[in-house]
Amino acid sequence: MRTIQVTHSQKPSSRNPKTAATAHPFDGVALAAGTDEKSAQPTGLDDRGKAANDAQVSALFRCIEQLHAGSDWGRFLDAGTGLNSALWSTALPTKRWVGVTGATDHARQVTERIGPRLRPQDRLLVGNWVDPALLQGEVFDTVLADYLVGAVEGFSPYFQPHLFKRLLPHVGRHLYVVGLDPYIVGDAPTEAARIVREIGRLRDACLLLADEGPYREYPAEWVVDSLQGAGFTVTHAKRFPNRYREKWVHSQLDMALRRLPKIEDQKLVAALRSKIEEIRARGVVLCSQEDGLRHGADYVIACTVTAS
Ligand SMILES: C[S@@+](CC[C@H](N)C(=O)[O-])C[C@H]1O[C@@H](n2cnc3c(N)ncnc32)[C@H](O)[C@@H]1O
Repeated sequence: MRTIQVTHSQKPSSRNPKTAATAHPFDGVALAAGTDEKSAQPTGLDDRGKAANDAQVSALFRCIEQLHAGSDWGRFLDAGTGLNSALWSTALPTKRWVGVTGATDHARQVTERIGPRLRPQDRLLVGNWVDPALLQGEVFDTVLADYLVGAVEGFSPYFQPHLFKRLLPHVGRHLYVVGLDPYIVGDAPTEAARIVREIGRLRDACLLLADEGPYREYPAEWVVDSLQGAGFTVTHAKRFPNRYREKWVHSQLDMALRRLPKIEDQKLVAALRSKIEEIRARGVVLCSQEDGLRHGADYVIACTVTAS
C-alpha cells in the first residue's frame, strides 16, 4: 500500500478561528485536520447529514477544486445529489452533468434550483444504487459522493460496504467522497461535544419512534479502507472540524418535534417534547457562550481507480 502524506492546512478560515490540526494516521493515509469549520447532520430534505453552514460547504468544495486543479472535470456524476452539490457542480465547466438521487422530493427540489442550468446533455435521475441497471455502461471522468455514504442507510440499508464497488465502473478518473464523522457514538470529551451527541441521539430516537430510519455516518478511516478494498487508490484525505451553530440546534430539534405526531404513546410524546425543549435551551445558551458547538469533523477523500 502506498504511503500518502497529506498536508495539514493551517490557513485560518475568514469566519472561523483556527483549530489545532491533528493527524489521524490510518493505513498509510494521514487524515489531515483542516482549519476550516463546517457543520452537519443527515436524511433527505430534512438536512440530516450535510454541511450546516455555507462557509464549510464552500471550504469542502474549494478543497476539491484545489485537489482537481489542472485536470478537466469532463463528464461529471453527482452520485448523491442535493442542493449544495448540484449548485456547486453544475457551475463547473463540465462536458456533461448527471445527478442521481434516491428521492423524488429531492429531485424536485434540485430541479427547481438548477433546472435552468441544465444543458441538453445533462440529466437528473431518481434511482437507487442497488439497481444494477442504474447508469449501466456509463463512465464519468469525475464522480462526487457528497454525504452519500451516510444517507445510504435511509435508501438501501446495509449497502454501505458495497457502495464504492458499485460506483467503481462509473469512475473514469477521479472520485471525491465528502462525509461526516459519526457524532452520536464515540467520545464526547467537552460540554459542546456532549450536547451535540445528545441532540443527535434524541433526533434519531424520535425518527425511529416515528417509523423512519436515521442516517448512519461512517468515519473517514472506514471510508478510506472501503475505497481501497473496492479498487481505488486514495490520494488525499483531509478532515474539517465542525462548529455547530444555533441554526443547527434548532433544525435538528425541530426535525425531532415534527416526528412527535407520528408517535402513539402520548405520555412518551409529552416527555420527548419536554426533553427537546430542555436540550434546545441548553444548546442555545452554550452556542452563545462558546460561539458555536465545536465537535467532530467532515472529511474530503480524493481517489483514483487503482491500475490493474
Ligand atoms: C444527504 S443527501 C446529499 C446531499 C447533497 N449532496 C447536497 O448537496 O445536499 C444524500 C443523497 O444521496 C441519495 N441517496 C442515498 N442513498 C442512495 C441510494 N442507495 N441510491 C441513490 N441515491 C441515494 C439521496 O437520495 C440524496 O439525494
